[in-house]
Amino acid sequence: MTVDRPLYADCSAPIELRVSDLLSRMTIEEKIGQMWQSAFIREDAEELIQNGQVGSFIWADTAYAGNEKQQSVAAARVNYLQRIAVEKSRLGIPLLFARDVIHGHRTVGPIPLGQAATWNPEVARNVARMAAREAASDGIRWTFAPMMDIARDPRWGRVAEGYGEDPYLAGEMAAATVRGFQGEDLAATDSLLACSKHYVGYGAAEGGRDYNTAEITPNTLQNIYLPPFHATVKAGVGSFMASFNEIGGEPVTANRALLTEKLKKDWGFDGFVVSDWNAVCELIEHGVAEGPKQAAELATNAGLDMEMASTSFRDTLPELLKEGLVSEETIDEAVRRLLRAKFRLGLFENPYTDETMGERVKLAPEHVTWARDAVRQSIILLKNQRGLLPLAKVGKRLGVFGPLIEAQAPLFGTWTLDGDENDVVKILDAVRSTVADPEAIRHSTLTDEALEMARWCDRVVAVVGESGNRSGEDHCTTNIDLPPGQQAVLEALVRMGKPLVVVVIAGRPLALEWVMEHADAVLYCFHGGVQTGPGLADVLFGDFNPTGRLPISLPRSVGQIPVYYNHKNTGRPLPKGGDRTRYIDSPDSPLIPFGFGLSYSLVSYDNLQIAELGEQRFKVSSTVKNNSDRETTEVVQLYIRDRFSKITRPVKELKGFARVSLQPGEQKTVEFDLGPEQLGYYGPGGKSIVEPGDFDVWIGWNSDQGMVGSLTVRA
Ligand code: GLC
Repeated sequence: MTVDRPLYADCSAPIELRVSDLLSRMTIEEKIGQMWQSAFIREDAEELIQNGQVGSFIWADTAYAGNEKQQSVAAARVNYLQRIAVEKSRLGIPLLFARDVIHGHRTVGPIPLGQAATWNPEVARNVARMAAREAASDGIRWTFAPMMDIARDPRWGRVAEGYGEDPYLAGEMAAATVRGFQGEDLAATDSLLACSKHYVGYGAAEGGRDYNTAEITPNTLQNIYLPPFHATVKAGVGSFMASFNEIGGEPVTANRALLTEKLKKDWGFDGFVVSDWNAVCELIEHGVAEGPKQAAELATNAGLDMEMASTSFRDTLPELLKEGLVSEETIDEAVRRLLRAKFRLGLFENPYTDETMGERVKLAPEHVTWARDAVRQSIILLKNQRGLLPLAKVGKRLGVFGPLIEAQAPLFGTWTLDGDENDVVKILDAVRSTVADPEAIRHSTLTDEALEMARWCDRVVAVVGESGNRSGEDHCTTNIDLPPGQQAVLEALVRMGKPLVVVVIAGRPLALEWVMEHADAVLYCFHGGVQTGPGLADVLFGDFNPTGRLPISLPRSVGQIPVYYNHKNTGRPLPKGGDRTRYIDSPDSPLIPFGFGLSYSLVSYDNLQIAELGEQRFKVSSTVKNNSDRETTEVVQLYIRDRFSKITRPVKELKGFARVSLQPGEQKTVEFDLGPEQLGYYGPGGKSIVEPGDFDVWIGWNSDQGMVGSLTVRA
């Protein structure tokens, strides 16, 4: 006798048929239940689940989850709740458990800004892949990442969570992160549904103050803030998160033009959109809704599919339906998208988590290797006077000083919910295990001891910077200098007259004018997670030739903000290299430009070639040569400038990059394709426009230096 199973339970049926079948069986209350994500595991959780009144849970205690220890998540607890949904509710729709798994779960990798400093999408994919395996083993199947908010203001604490100032680099890193989280098969039990956030413009918060107004022109929105999100739609991201901010008077949470017209219709996104924490009811604070009911009406009609934390959907959608203010078609479209994601995740076939998986995957050797490799590649060599670096492992007496040399949790970086600080290898320990004779090291976190010890040393490494909790959500600063007192320590060490390496650990760009002038060598290391120490030691002692490049400009001072490379020329540009400056008290240029990074090798560029292929397509190439006896990887960068167009274009735009490994003495030719996708811009309404005319083209080693050529685009 065949059991009459409903179509939606038949895993051999097409997902769209399963969605439609299930939708047709649902009551309005069950549909609205799917549109709500409950924060925390409330006392009435089991009842809500059994009644089909909730579709998802987020495991996070507070909205500032990025910097506070969280309740841990355990597969057994998840399975317990899931069993109620699958076996006791009327339709057995599985729950979707979510968490902010941003740059690792138990094996914590570099913060996304550090991953961007690698200019290597493979690193981002690996960090996301290991995070997915480990988080899924705890029952999490949806993460609220990648975050790809373009950030031009280091005062904004969440600059740590994104990929810097450039849309192309951010898009490449975010798309790779989506692929890492979602894996080859989203239905695999070690895949996480990724979530592109915060859509859109959150990083433009005025004053670098979190949650603040974002004044963005349509042209800047189309050409700077939207492209990274579009890249993730092309990469197959399964969900989006609407941002807290308003743009031009319209909060994104209730912005139909963005949530439906642009995202779902123009880009063809078939996943779902979740609000940010309480953001639906925050429409009341924004002043566009008089209460939860109007907030729910505005958000659902704009195309928001799920409400996180607040309960306006649960509480008011039945009434809004009755009053015809929200149609059942709108509800059905939202629920269709939510169910589609659950079917794609395979939750109906595999709703439960293997509770033995965690011990096998957490801190797996491959994950620790990936984490260390990510740190190594993220470190940026900013200065190396007289070839002080790499340091010798033998025969030299070394001082290791500063407040972070024995830090553990501070090296995690923001948004680390499931890391164990005991997994963090201390920088001092990593240095000790690298040098031949640990006795040849003196170390202290205390300034007075450091100065006395420095007299004995041949070289000094000072590790300064921020703890991970100084950046992240709602952790904005009015100051981007080193934390108070640290420069004084460095000044005292400089007076000791020993060769000084300064290692800066940070979650944001810091103002380092004095450091760059007085230190002999400078390494920049965004918070790197569990393997910060080993990765740093690999670079310090030459086991890894640094390849990191700045994903964001380093300002000279907070007064210079915003300073970014892809700025407009204005009607009164200053001549390059001239002595005139717009500020009467500072040069205009950033301290260090976007894309900058040195290595222990000397790489030369030559023979820029631009070949026209027809139909507005070109092949751009140059040779790069490693003029050293040390293997290296060069990050070759391609920039363009449209000299004349109907709208003003940036003085430079990154349109390609390639990591080129070079053996000692080796020379390679690097090629890039340029076509309408790269040469055009988004005009009104997001229409892609390529204007015939002349372009400058650079192949360079950063946004400020390179070989320049030109091309002409024909009509
Ligand atoms: C927070 C953040 C968002 C996070 C969400 C859940 O307020 O803005 O990035 O994913 O709430 O913790």
